[in-house]
Amino acid sequence: MSSFKDLRIVDNFYQSSAFFPMPTVLISTLDDSGKTTLGAYSLVFPYYIAGKSYYAMILEARNSSNTAQNILKRGKCALNFLEDSYRDFAETVKLGFPGQTPEEKMKNCPFELEKGLAGGEDRPLVIKKAYQVFECTWDDSLEDAYEDRKRVGQLDGVEPPYRSFNGITSKFGCHFILKVDKILMKEKFYDAIVNGVKASSFPKVPIDFGYRDSTYFWYTKFRRGLKCPIPNVQSNSVGSVRFAADRTDPNVHFTDEACAMLVKVPRVFLKTVLNGCVKYAKENGITVIDEKVMAEINDKRRGEKKKR
Ligand SMILES: Cc1cc2nc3c(=O)[nH]c(=O)nc-3n(C[C@H](O)[C@H](O)[C@H](O)COP(=O)(O)O)c2cc1C
Repeated sequence: MSSFKDLRIVDNFYQSSAFFPMPTVLISTLDDSGKTTLGAYSLVFPYYIAGKSYYAMILEARNSSNTAQNILKRGKCALNFLEDSYRDFAETVKLGFPGQTPEEKMKNCPFELEKGLAGGEDRPLVIKKAYQVFECTWDDSLEDAYEDRKRVGQLDGVEPPYRSFNGITSKFGCHFILKVDKILMKEKFYDAIVNGVKASSFPKVPIDFGYRDSTYFWYTKFRRGLKCPIPNVQSNSVGSVRFAADRTDPNVHFTDEACAMLVKVPRVFLKTVLNGCVKYAKENGITVIDEKVMAEINDKRRGEKKKR
């Protein structure tokens, strides 16, 4: 017998049939008068994370919302992430009430705005107290979604046809693939990402559980970052690294010390890492990779991370 009950799956299943942990994001866009307006969103997740020519998020939004209409018309938005504060969450919920015009919503908005870093007059402002902001551009080329620009202003539901994953995807729904143009980070968290995180250097990120029982939005407060070591059993031995290293390139030799520096690389990534080391060696006329060369490679990687 199963230890579970079989729960019905209904519209908005992530909050009506589940406890699904979500971020809370205030999205800034420009309204028709060129002013920044804010809307509350949780269904916003990384979409292209590697192996493409750009990085992207996906946003799921009601197609009649100010945010969706503004993205359809002008393509630019900023995803503002705020630290945990009950007062700010209550303000976020106010900015999540459907049916208000940008002017009505922003009249009493307590969040101070400032210019972002992506540049250009067509960008919305960002929230000054956010701990991080992603400045984005909708990729309307996917699925030829730029055609949906002609369908703005249909606020009582859009008739078919619908797209699969980008643009107007149902009568009341929209999906947007948002190219991440810039990630803006407050200095404290910037340092943590570039130099290594400690429990105390995590932003206090709240977790949203959505609108439940047609009554309240629920969220949980952040307590403290906890670290969990990766399992040792998956470490390589120096011998297994040596075996793979000797088969990477006949003209580049890895010393035992260099191999020892790679024992913690998960086995599935070892070949890629060794190939990367050999590439660096060849570009720099090196035939023996020792501890010093490995340190150079690590420094270069850290430098690239900082530059980004
Ligand atoms: C915490 C929170 C999260 C929300 N997440 C979403 C979401 O992911 N997608 C959506 O369509 N609506 C979401 N809503 C509802 C929107 O905020 C609501 O439709 C609002 O009218 C959007 O503002 P706008 O019309 O200015 O864009 C959320 C509301 C709150 C309070």
